Parts: sequence; C-alpha cells; structure tokens
Amino acid sequence: RILILDYGSQVTQLIARRVREAGVYCEIHSGDVDDAFLKSQPGLKGIILSGSHASAYHEESLKVPAAAFEMGVPVLGICYGMQAMALQLGGKVEFSDHREFGYAEVRARGHTRLLDGLEDFTTPEGHGMLKVWMSHGDKVTELPPGFKLMASTESCPIAGMADEARNFYAVQFHPEVTHTTQGPAMLSRFVREICGCEGDWNMPDYVQEAVQAIRDQVGSDEVILGLSGGVDSSVAAALIHKAIGDQLTCVFVDHGLLRLNEGQQVMQTFGEHFGMKIIHVDATEQFMGKLAGVSDPEAKRKIIGKEFVEVFQAEAAKLSNARWLAQGTIYPDVIESAGAKTGKAVAIKSHHNVGGLPETLNLKLLEPLRELFKDEVRKLGVALGLPPAMVYRHPFPGPGLGVRILGEVKKEYADLLRRADAIFIEELRKTEDPISGQNWYDLTSQAFAVFLPVKSVGVMGDGRTYDYVVALRAVQTSDFMTADWAELPYALLKKVSSRIINEVRGINRVTYDVSSKPPATIEWE
Ligand code: XMP
Repeated sequence: RILILDYGSQVTQLIARRVREAGVYCEIHSGDVDDAFLKSQPGLKGIILSGSHASAYHEESLKVPAAAFEMGVPVLGICYGMQAMALQLGGKVEFSDHREFGYAEVRARGHTRLLDGLEDFTTPEGHGMLKVWMSHGDKVTELPPGFKLMASTESCPIAGMADEARNFYAVQFHPEVTHTTQGPAMLSRFVREICGCEGDWNMPDYVQEAVQAIRDQVGSDEVILGLSGGVDSSVAAALIHKAIGDQLTCVFVDHGLLRLNEGQQVMQTFGEHFGMKIIHVDATEQFMGKLAGVSDPEAKRKIIGKEFVEVFQAEAAKLSNARWLAQGTIYPDVIESAGAKTGKAVAIKSHHNVGGLPETLNLKLLEPLRELFKDEVRKLGVALGLPPAMVYRHPFPGPGLGVRILGEVKKEYADLLRRADAIFIEELRKTEDPISGQNWYDLTSQAFAVFLPVKSVGVMGDGRTYDYVVALRAVQTSDFMTADWAELPYALLKKVSSRIINEVRGINRVTYDVSSKPPATIEWE
C-alpha cells in the first residue's frame, strides 16, 4: 500500500483518487504522524507528500517525519512536499510572497524513471514538454546532495528533482489535477513501477475483503442502520447484508418529504429483492405536525433533523440486541472532519446532514465505506447488485422536500411538488442530447422542482385559474460548491412545463431557475 501524508492541500484527495485509479490501495494520513507510525505500517511500499498552503521553511510548518527518508521506501514530494523534502535533505528553498498558480509548460530534464518518455509536445529545439498545473511561490533554489534536476520552467528553474539511487522524486507542479495531462501516467509510474505495487486493487476483491472485515468486526452481534434510500446508506446496507444477513436490521424513516414512490422503491429493492429486515416507519403525520406554522428555513431544518433522530432512536431502542450502529460515512466525510479538527485545510464544506449520530444509543460504530470515494461507492453498489439507476441517482438532501417547499410545509404542497418533480425527472431521463448521446438526467448533476406557495392567474379552457407556481432547477457541477444552471433545450422545458400544468391540478405556472451558485445556492432554502 501507499501512504499519502497530507499537509493541508485542497487537492490531496485527488492524489488518492489517481493512485486508486492506477489499481493501488492508498490511505491519506495527517502530515503530523511520527516516525513510529510510519514504521508500524504493514506492507508500506511508498510515500507521497502532498502540497500545502504553508511555507516549508517556517518554523511552525510541519516537518516530514525523518523515517520517511530512512526506511528505504520510495518517496514522491508534490509542491510543498517537494520543498519540505529539499529542505530536510540539505537543499535550499527560497521565499517568495508572490504565488503563481495555473497552466505551465515544463521541460523534462535528464533521464528519470518518473518522466522518461512522457511528453505532451516537442519544442522546435527538440525538447520534450509537459503541460502541467503549477503552483509555486516559494521555490527550491538549490538541490539537496545526491539529487539531480528532473524538470524546469521559465520561472521555476528547479520544477522537479530526483535522487534515483534512493528513489526520491519531487515535482513543484501538481500531477494529481486534471490539467496536468500526463499526471495520471506519472502517479501510476511512481506507485506501480518505482514502488512496485501490483495494481490489482479492484472492486470484486474489495467486496470480499470488506465482507470479511465486517464479519470479523461484528461477530454474531446485531447491527442497525438508518436507510435513507440515498447512495451511501444503500450501498452500506447491501454490503453489510451480504456479510451478515439477518443480523442487520434497517430502519427506514419516511418523513413524508420523499420523492414520488420513493418509499415503495426502497422497500421493493431492499425488502423484496434483497430480503433484508427493514422497519418502515411512516412518520409523515408526526413531521407535518411539528412543521405546521414554521416557515423559517433554518428552523425547518432543525425540526426535521431533531424529529428524525427521535423517530430513529425510538425504533432503535426496540432492538435491544443491537450492538452496532452502521453508517454510510465515506472517505471525503472522514477527511473533511479530520481537516476541520486540525484546522489544516483552508476551506471546508460545511456538512449538513439530517440529525447526526444518536450518541445516547450506546452503540459501536460500523462504517464500512470509510475508505471509499463516492465514485468507488457507486462501483461497489453496482458490484453488489444494486440497480444502477439508484446508485447513479442525483443527490437528495436529508431534509428532502422540506427545503424545496418554500416557507411553511404542508402535505398538500408536498403532494403537488412530488408529481411535478417526477414529470421533470422523467422527461430529463427520456430526452437525449444528440451531440453526446447522453440523456439530460445524466448530463445534469442535480435537477428538481421547487414549490412556490404563491398563486398566479391563468386560463385553462374557458375558465380562469388561480393556482400555485413551480420552479424547475437543474445544475451542472463537479463538486456542488459552485454550480452553473444547465442550458436545457427549450423543447425539453416546453414539454415539462406543459405536462406539469396539464397533469398536476393546482399548478398553473412553471418557471426555470437561471441562477448560478454562487451567489445563489443549489437548493432554494
Ligand atoms: P446548496 O443548496 O448548499 O447545496 O448549494 C449543495 C448540495 O448539498 C445538498 N444539501 C444537503 N444535503 N443535507 C444533505 O444531505 C442537507 O441538509 C442539505 N442541504 C443541501 C444539496 O442538495 C446540494 O446537492
């Protein structure tokens, strides 16, 4: 396995993704681990040092544990990782308060196992060049003893260095980001050829390993899991069920704010198809009762979260033999909360999930997806036999339609919204983009309808109508932190609007949301 030491770069997770894409298992650990930790890692084949927003020569900046350079395993330093390596091994790093980010062309120098044969284009003088994403401010100005120059740019003469006798490599640019076109090849080379990892980390093997690990962990104990129908909890349920069968009980809380037929679909997939033990709690009345008269978005979120925990806890308390609480926590959740704890990452997405852990249950935590990224969770779901349509579904917020009905939530509004939303989604799935050949559901990252509790005048047949408004929202984004509204074809919007107005009595006007995030958010509340 490969260890990635994180010094707080925002793209550290990408290093792990590229390494796993090369079929090699890796883990990210905080850069402040000590020598003893490194020496206790079983099967360690290589270490990658991440970037950081800090300066390597600052006293307070984290040092790389000395053992990393003494254990005889290959080390790759990226950006800050390169500077830290240079400083600690006797080179020089110079201060600059001018940071440079962006596209750069790097010339490969000398011959190294890392870069040989990789190039994006050749200059008229015959130099092999790489297109990379550079980030430098501070830079290495003197190579440490034993190192040779591996790459350079106009403004950064030492953009890469290597000591091939010790298998130490370092680059000032970021091979993990997509803009560095040969980046995947470089990282794959490092982990497979230089570190000698097999590249056999794949999903079917992972399923076997994970199943065994769950069996070892829980033995004959019983486990409960809150199933929401979302990707993470669904995949966790399928995996745990494969491992321990009826020792698992799922609690599915329907707060009355789910999408059309979602409850039935969850029961069909998990109850009938997989034969899992599921307690289906229809708590619609309870949630609607608590939400009556409340229109402030934050107040609504809090009520939904609190009720959710209460309903779940009441059900869990009935399962007196349960010793474990299973959760679909995935790797980005783990790293985000670790980053928040040490305060190392600069910007952290605030995690807003329904409720939180019912701590008073006194259950041990079972989190079988803790090591996986979202796309790996999806692949695992497919490998476990979950329907691809469920595994590749757009995200749905924990508070559900509660944040898509503006102001006060009423069952009547939820019923109208569910039907309008289902029509929108159905048409997105049905409509193909002729250029890419993909349907518009897959071409958008998230799409849904929003209920606006205002009435407007319309005309239908010979009569006047005075009904509610629905807004359609469809966005494209890679990380949900920023998003563009999707340029859906007019013909598609026309069809959706006409179907909603004709089929959903109570709605006589449909609008399309053309706000991007920021300054708007994806959800309306
Ligand atoms: P915003 O509206 O903040 O949403 O642009 C970004 C993404 O987060 C989802 N979202 C939530 N997910 N619990 C969740 O599990 C929540 O309370 C919640 N609020 C927003 C939203 O659907 C979008 O994908």
